[in-house]
Amino acid sequence: MSLESVKKSDVLIIGAGVIGLSLARELHKKGFGRVTIIEKGSVGREASYAAAGMLAAQAEGGRADDFFHFCRESAGIYPQFAEELLDETDVDIELDREGTLYLAFTEADVEELARRFEWQTGAGLTVERLSAVETHKLEPFVSPDVLGSLYFPDDWQVENRRLLYALEKYCRRFGIEIIENAGVKALLLENEKVVGAETAGGKFFADRVVLATGAWTSLIKAGKLTLPEVKPIRGQIIEYHTAKRLFHKVIYSPRGYLVPRRNGRILAGATAADTGFDKTVLKEETGVLRENALEIAPSLINLDIHDQWVGLRPLAADALPVIGAIEEAENLYVAGGHYRNGILLAPLTAKVLAEHLAGENNSPYLDAFGPRRRRLNAAEA
Ligand code: FAD
Ligand code: GLY
Repeated sequence: MSLESVKKSDVLIIGAGVIGLSLARELHKKGFGRVTIIEKGSVGREASYAAAGMLAAQAEGGRADDFFHFCRESAGIYPQFAEELLDETDVDIELDREGTLYLAFTEADVEELARRFEWQTGAGLTVERLSAVETHKLEPFVSPDVLGSLYFPDDWQVENRRLLYALEKYCRRFGIEIIENAGVKALLLENEKVVGAETAGGKFFADRVVLATGAWTSLIKAGKLTLPEVKPIRGQIIEYHTAKRLFHKVIYSPRGYLVPRRNGRILAGATAADTGFDKTVLKEETGVLRENALEIAPSLINLDIHDQWVGLRPLAADALPVIGAIEEAENLYVAGGHYRNGILLAPLTAKVLAEHLAGENNSPYLDAFGPRRRRLNAAEA
């Protein structure tokens, strides 16, 4: 019997991405005594590290549904989240509230902008329509071919790698144990009750277990239990560097985006392909990303690509997050399927699940995004 096998946690979180780490912090704040995270690799080095850090409810939203409101409410938590993390860890997560521009280059893009303007103003959101001249005034390096843009002042960005660093620092400072290089192969079950998880290095027992395992959620063995279906969607990003910040805002087009960081990094993203767990950087995708970036800002042509990488977005069967209790099993929970918006959704996901685990009022978002909604949908089909 290994040493690990005799330890028992109040809550065992599997996966140290932005979701697992944010949840651990929230549970600790609620007074949960022993919270442990087990991670198959290193802390925060998968999708959460690969992400662009946009808090892009309006730029990425399609209509004013539950998911959209969940995104907006989570973005609303960010100013306090950033401030608290600074107090708790001395790490500035670089929340940047300059807003986001969404550009049009073709007649089809102009129609797309008009559609977005209509439903978003209809939903009472702040969105401004800008001419080409007004767009250039805000961002002089945008292409002269731009036909106009929308400005979303409430779509922000955060430096997601600093966010991960802050969350990890919080965990280590406040006694949340993180065990790296410990991949969970199977859940430990006693009848229908989940009592822990098993890795090659030992068994970890807990009163409650949370799957925060991103794109890998469906790979864990769980006896007769059905775990939520989540699959990886690869996303490649290329990065440029400039000595001085060229852009102030996040800049979207219908084909790609540029995210300017404080230190001169510019992320140009992102591809999306349903091709399994392969994280190889692909030349063809580099070409597409470069082309989309140059459409937004032709002056980038003079810059070399400084870095590029691939991350795996976790996509659930109905493309919605999966958050809450897995009801066939006692003591098993999931926080996953955040697909393109896990950075944005981390604070609210952590809040609603931590409240649930603490036995407080259940958020209506647990009805909208609980694992059970999939079975209800299936029964209706
Ligand atoms: P992950 O960060 O992948 O973490 C899951 C962790 O679980 C991993 O560390 C993994 O190693 C671990 N794990 C898995 N299985 C096991 C196991 N069996 N045992 C132990 N550990 C395990 N979102 C935004 O909000 N804004 C953006 O701008 C944005 N841009 C993106 C750009 C790209 C290119 C990509 C790929 C994603 C982007 N996203 C963005 C999406 C966002 O990155 C994800 O939704 C989010 O990171 C999911 O967080 P997570 O913690 O669930 O997953
Ligand atoms: N949310 C940006 C992306 O997933 O690429």
